[in-house]
Amino acid sequence: MRLLITGGCGFIGSHTVREALGSGKFQKVVNLDCLTYSGNPENLKDIDDGKYRFIHGSINDSKLVQETIREEEISHIIHLAAESHVDRSIDSVEPFIRSNIDGTRVILESIRDLEKLGHEISMVHVSTDEVYGSLGPEDLPFTEETPVCPMNPYAATKAASDMLVQSFSNTYGIKAVITRCSNNYGPNQFPEKLVPLMTLNAVEGKKLPIYGDGMQIRDWIHVSDHSRGLLESLFGLSDGSLTPGEVINFGANDERTNLEIVSEIIEMTDADKGLIEYVSDRPGHDRRYAMGFEKAKLTLDWEPLIPWEKGIRDTIDWYINNPEWVESVRTGDYLNWLERHYG
Ligand code: NAD
Ligand code: DAU
Repeated sequence: MRLLITGGCGFIGSHTVREALGSGKFQKVVNLDCLTYSGNPENLKDIDDGKYRFIHGSINDSKLVQETIREEEISHIIHLAAESHVDRSIDSVEPFIRSNIDGTRVILESIRDLEKLGHEISMVHVSTDEVYGSLGPEDLPFTEETPVCPMNPYAATKAASDMLVQSFSNTYGIKAVITRCSNNYGPNQFPEKLVPLMTLNAVEGKKLPIYGDGMQIRDWIHVSDHSRGLLESLFGLSDGSLTPGEVINFGANDERTNLEIVSEIIEMTDADKGLIEYVSDRPGHDRRYAMGFEKAKLTLDWEPLIPWEKGIRDTIDWYINNPEWVESVRTGDYLNWLERHYG
């Protein structure tokens, strides 16, 4: 098995590269990443493994994608590369359409064209619970049968890419499954997202900006549980437990409001509650996500292993103990974004 991971320098990608190398199941793990603001080679700088190769380039470059698959004799792909931040998609959707939709189109067409030449490639397309839209307080969690109903531009581009994957699977017989996961937290997450932003601000005595009333609910899962699920999905596709075109959900059954999360971070960092600042709500803010993941349990024997209490403690400690990493992600673009977004 020779694996291509797209977006391997990002948050989930870097954990997935480690999980793949650690599994001992791959002869080669190639990481294709164009290093946007959230792609950080520091995330993988300690990897010293002859099986690993990093290629700096974009999934939008079809020549490069095809050359990489051909030359590295890629048999499996985990496709994570994407623009991932909802607030940025509300600011400007163009990069999301380019990477999330058109980038996925390039990968699918590359697989289709190379399969005509005899290559055999299986793919996991990494999607999100956000494609299902928003739940009411009494609604049951999303299942794989829940209709897709994206409510923000980021989610719309992810839903569009999912549909491209399903259509290529149906039309050309591409062997791809779609995974949809809830909110990830853990080390190496770019500090524009709730957990690292609030952790670093709390430690540094800065304001903690809560959107709207802070009562929005997310289902939080540790990134390593998600990465393991992605590999299990790839193996499930290879051994026939999953069939091409299928969707599989991952979650942690751990729903919390944003206010609860921020309060826990305040407590664990001994910060001042007075740092909380209620700011304007995110436009079109989804109220609640919750994931049903019975299918992953039944078909892949997968379940989340890291309880929130341990995962969040370890995560906060990681951000506190890795000031060099924090410094490395605080690029000009990151600062510009904070300035533009929070004023
Ligand atoms: P991230 O922003 O940390 O990482 C994205 C990576 O993709 C970066 O390394 C970036 O450089 C790379 N990239 C972006 N556009 C690219 C392009 N055109 N060519 C090559 N590389 C490109 O994001 P993340 O949180 O790690 O999310 C990874 C994937 O998982 C995304 O597809 C996202 O939609 C999905 N997802 C994320 C979560 C979450 O909670 N973070 C949950 C479910 C699904
Ligand atoms: O649900 C999966 C999704 O989770 C992934 O598909 C996305 O890639 C990922 O970014 C994440 O999206 P969210 O919008 O849920 O994550 P974010 O960390 O941006 O926000 C989490 C919640 O916290 C959300 O309700 C908005 C709120 N929030 C966020 C920030 C950054 C605040 O209240 N204040 C903030 O400053």
